[in-house]
Amino acid sequence: MHIHKFEQFWIKLSFGLIAFFIATVVYGFVSMDLKVIGDYQTIDPQGLDATPFGTPGVREVTRNGATEYEVYVQTLQFAFVPGTSSPITVPANTRVTFYITSPDVLHGFDVAGTNLNTMSIPGQVAKFTTIFPEAREYGIVCNEYCGPAHHIMEGIIKVVP
Ligand code: CUA
Repeated sequence: MHIHKFEQFWIKLSFGLIAFFIATVVYGFVSMDLKVIGDYQTIDPQGLDATPFGTPGVREVTRNGATEYEVYVQTLQFAFVPGTSSPITVPANTRVTFYITSPDVLHGFDVAGTNLNTMSIPGQVAKFTTIFPEAREYGIVCNEYCGPAHHIMEGIIKVVP
């Protein structure tokens, strides 16, 4: 069978490209060394009881002579702890640092209407600091699919004057 040499050229080129794309995927997997970048901390997701996450909630702390707040949150299938029955209550215009982790699966922690949004990853502690400028209520939603009742996962932050 005769194949025209231009046709041969394009056949070889297309197989070459397929081999190249597969090679890039293989290289990506082989050299993969995924790490969470930034200010993070690892934690045993089965041992949260022995950490501040064992008593989730709001703590008042003094830092550099000023009053600040720390909030420890567990994300569970299918609730935030503290959840809607005990809203996270913090004052406006004060530094609030959130520490968030998960004992089960990947969840999200998204404070609706703000740019506060993080994943909650088993084995990792997510941390961010914010100041709420006004007294109002915010809803918290989980924006990572975490199971059949993902959509009922919600929380509340009450910012008080
Ligand atoms: Cu938790 Cu979706």
